[in-house]
Amino acid sequence: MSGDMTTIRFDAPKATDGQADATQQAQAVQQAQQQASAPVATPTTSTPTNTNVQLGRGLDVGTANLLSATQEDGEIVVKRERNAFLEIPAEFAGNRDMLTKLNVPFVSFRDHLYVLGDASFNLANMFGKEVRRPMSDGFLSPQEQDAIPMMKFIVERLLGAPKVAGEPVYFCIPAPSIDKENDTVYHEGIVSGILKKLGFTPHSMNEAHAVVYSELADQGFTGIGVSCGGGMFNVCVAYKTIPAVKFSVARGGDWIDQHVSKVMGISRTRATAIKEGDVNLMAPRNREEEAVVLYYRNLISYVLQNLKQRFQLARDVPQFTEPVEVVVAGGTSLVGGFVEVFAEELQKIDFPLQVAGVRRAEDALSSVTRGCLIAAALNES
Ligand SMILES: Nc1ncnc2c1ncn2[C@@H]1O[C@H](COP(=O)(O)OP(=O)(O)OP(=O)(O)O)[C@@H](O)[C@H]1O
Ligand SMILES: [Mg+2]
Repeated sequence: MSGDMTTIRFDAPKATDGQADATQQAQAVQQAQQQASAPVATPTTSTPTNTNVQLGRGLDVGTANLLSATQEDGEIVVKRERNAFLEIPAEFAGNRDMLTKLNVPFVSFRDHLYVLGDASFNLANMFGKEVRRPMSDGFLSPQEQDAIPMMKFIVERLLGAPKVAGEPVYFCIPAPSIDKENDTVYHEGIVSGILKKLGFTPHSMNEAHAVVYSELADQGFTGIGVSCGGGMFNVCVAYKTIPAVKFSVARGGDWIDQHVSKVMGISRTRATAIKEGDVNLMAPRNREEEAVVLYYRNLISYVLQNLKQRFQLARDVPQFTEPVEVVVAGGTSLVGGFVEVFAEELQKIDFPLQVAGVRRAEDALSSVTRGCLIAAALNES
């Protein structure tokens, strides 16, 4: 993983007088944002909360990872599990004892034993198997018959019991994809159903909008949030918190892995390992890394071309008087050189909005779940 905190600036530092006339909505979100994130950023100056545990949770329902965020003792606590599971082969006698000894989370479901989350990855290697995944390309996978119960188990592990009956959970859903027919209504309904069964009150919000909530407070929640995930890229252009354009493409980290694996004749797992290693998109060191760069560039350019088109076609788009900031988040944005390549590709197209700069969210993996938590704090306070 690259830890570089590169920000690419396109212009002279952007004037921020847009904040002065921010709408009440923007101010309210700002307050919620401060309430939800100040304790982490500035622990000594945070306003103490009158209860130890704040009601309301954030939940990022992703193809690769599920993350929860909660506010406890004035701090944001983020938990993550891979959205994956593995059935323990029946021939391994005494599985329960072994799993208990290894401290591996498992559930018994319809007379079969399943290992959940990160542990399923480790055990998959041990057993020489592939993990199974409840979601693909951002949505519940129609090919996976056990998707719903397994996701319920993992979500339960992350959230535990509600602090009060019907505690609100704000969870993210992708925007409809421009390149794949997918059913947001079904997906949203199923995740809502899981949360209700666990005793929570579900509220859905757009994934990239959550990035705007968590990362663009200083810009009055005006700008472009991009969540670069395993299954998709989600984009939201917001003006003072209100989404003006939002869409997704059904390509993400998995798409890169799949293509690199194919053209290089290597396994998917190997392709993922190379991509998640210390690749720098600006300085590939061998043919495999060059393939990673090629697909990354292609994907970023594809997203930006579509953003341009969507923006041009959108009706009632507000007047952006100042150059806007672009923030990228999600696991796929973690590769070294991502921000630089994104900025380069952006400058290649005649983008209809003036862009002040491109930066990566400080904690790219938890950006969406933190944004969901802010939405919960905003709406439930
Ligand atoms: N250091 C890294 N470098 C490059 N890619 C990474 C790195 N760490 C994780 N990834 C990739 O990030 C992706 C997962 O990101 P993330 O958790 O944001 O996705 P998700 O939210 O679960 O998926 P989606 O939003 O598409 O449904 C995977 O494709 C993974 O390979
Ligand atoms: Mg995601």
